[in-house]
Amino acid sequence: LLFGRRKVKKPKINEDIQKEESKVVTQMDIEDIGDNIAFCRCWRSKKFPLCDGSHNKHNAETRDNVGPLLLRREGD
Ligand code: FES
Repeated sequence: LLFGRRKVKKPKINEDIQKEESKVVTQMDIEDIGDNIAFCRCWRSKKFPLCDGSHNKHNAETRDNVGPLLLRREGD
């Protein structure tokens, strides 16, 4: 792939999220997380950093196999 005059070996993972930032960093207070939460790892969610199921479309279109990070409180 060629972007401008720079040769890039791999495509970008993040296509749309906070592109005005030099780095996307998300902070959450652990106390604000409920009993279950799903974090996006495909970078396609409209609710990023939370998963909205967009990984299913991405996987179908690209034959990839990405999915969310699921966190749940012990005992749930
Ligand atoms: Fe990205 Fe689910 S939407 S992992």
